Amino acid sequence: GSFLLPQQKGRNRPMSEHKTFYITTPIYYPSDKLHIGHSYTTVACDALARFKRMQGYDVMFLTGTDEHGQKIEKCAEEAQVTPKEYVDGVVETILRLWDKMEISYDDFIRTTELRHIKRVQNIFMKMYENGDIYKGKYEGWYCTPCESYWPESQLVDGKCPDCGREVKKMSEDAYFFRLSKYSDALLDNFRNNPDFLQPEARRNEMISFVEQGLEDLCISRSTFDWGIPVPIDEEHVIYVWLDALSNYITALGYSEDDALYKKYWPVDVHLVGKEIVRFHSIIWPAMLMSLKEPLPKQVLGHGWLLIDGGKMSKSKGNVVDPEILIDRYGIDALKYFLLREYTFGQDGIYTNEIMLKRLNYDLANDLGNLLSRTVSMIMKYNDGVVPEATTKDEIDEELQELATTAGNRVEDKMDTFQFNMALDEIWAIVRRANKYIDEKTPWILAKDPERKAELDTVLRNLVEALRIVSILIIPYMHTTSERMREQLGLADVEAKWEDAFTFYQMDGCKVQKGEVLFPRLDIEKELEALSQIRQEKVATKNKK
Ligand code: MSP
Repeated sequence: GSFLLPQQKGRNRPMSEHKTFYITTPIYYPSDKLHIGHSYTTVACDALARFKRMQGYDVMFLTGTDEHGQKIEKCAEEAQVTPKEYVDGVVETILRLWDKMEISYDDFIRTTELRHIKRVQNIFMKMYENGDIYKGKYEGWYCTPCESYWPESQLVDGKCPDCGREVKKMSEDAYFFRLSKYSDALLDNFRNNPDFLQPEARRNEMISFVEQGLEDLCISRSTFDWGIPVPIDEEHVIYVWLDALSNYITALGYSEDDALYKKYWPVDVHLVGKEIVRFHSIIWPAMLMSLKEPLPKQVLGHGWLLIDGGKMSKSKGNVVDPEILIDRYGIDALKYFLLREYTFGQDGIYTNEIMLKRLNYDLANDLGNLLSRTVSMIMKYNDGVVPEATTKDEIDEELQELATTAGNRVEDKMDTFQFNMALDEIWAIVRRANKYIDEKTPWILAKDPERKAELDTVLRNLVEALRIVSILIIPYMHTTSERMREQLGLADVEAKWEDAFTFYQMDGCKVQKGEVLFPRLDIEKELEALSQIRQEKVATKNKK
């Protein structure tokens, strides 16, 4: 009906056709191929975007690449190509990766595109005309890999506090942004909007960072060329972070063609790793204040995937290549693992063994088995036709109740960005259904013609529970959903979110046996194979 209350959920939630949802990933440095840590950010965004789309939102999902700066210039020099040639090459590998992972982004912005360059220059000019940019002299400790200046007080053992590498003393003429002017407004924003920055721990860190006093931010460089020229001074290029953060509005046409900007800004969620929370929750809002534009609704900082006790890094040679995992185990296995294993907002440890166990237990054993057992039994006991359920006892009731209410719990978990808990709510159905088979012992019911009605009910309830699972997993594992629905005889039925809240929709469906969803892995063998692949990669790299 059309008279439903807005706070009602799921099936009863009114379609929000006009509601928009704008979500972004950080734009990645194309200094090298991306690794599994980068995929993590993007996979989480993709799941949220797909989830919101299923709920009827008009979603804008933006990602892209952050292509300027001294580090890229250096990489290009080493490779003996121009910076543009260099980034073109890496960006191609990034686009290929997102394609392979079927990431559902709506726009991909490169900071070397003309649309971005012009709009960043407009942004610079607006801030300049508002009196927030002035020319001064910068002196400080500079970390080249991080492209950051640090005041002496923030160095750790004389090294970069972010990456621990050498810093050097530099001094140059530069343009500055009056960041200090916005300290109070920034504190107000943190205090008045408790949800602005999540998780809580990050928020407290940032508040005390601002309370210690903000210095004006150096926003231009004259020591290298690979950047967007400062419109009023050709000796200078715009500092990469000002250039990069602007992507979130330049992609919407800000300052030139405002239709998308009007529609989607302010952004609903900027999803970022914890090390760049500072840029997104302090510098970016201050820039927007200077532009007199609305602030992001929320910045969400996630933790890191750690390997050998530290952050993955190319220089340590311990990066995990997502493509290898996808080629061996499939997109959905990788996405499931990333979202299920880690608690969003916290660091988590990656090892091949942790991943392989997850795939075996949750995917091969729990989900894969449930589907293949159910389909086999319907083939065997009912010629593949989904039977009607005409009986019901407490156990049947319990399964139905659990399955038809899971969507509500998934919505709650997704609204608070608890991807792992959302998946666990779905797997609660899977585990309950497997247990239901053991409790109901359909193979015994099948021996007694008088109990045919009971047997039918069991089969029907299982297949309905699987149908619900096939809808709820779409945001995280859309290809698995399709494969399941083919076997369930639902290939031609549109998977709608609201259909996850009802039972008994499958009258007359015919199931068909298909490929095993997730083959059981021999963990020892896989560990061996993965380390072999890795050694070969290292070897070919060294040869080059
Ligand atoms: N270019 C900047 C972002 C500019 S946004 C206006 C940048 N790029 S990055 O390529 O270095 O990192 C992009 C994202 O990948 C960050 O959110 C970072 O946290 C994430 N990750 C990189 N390594 C990671 C892990 N090992 N684990 C989890 N995420 C990690 O920063």
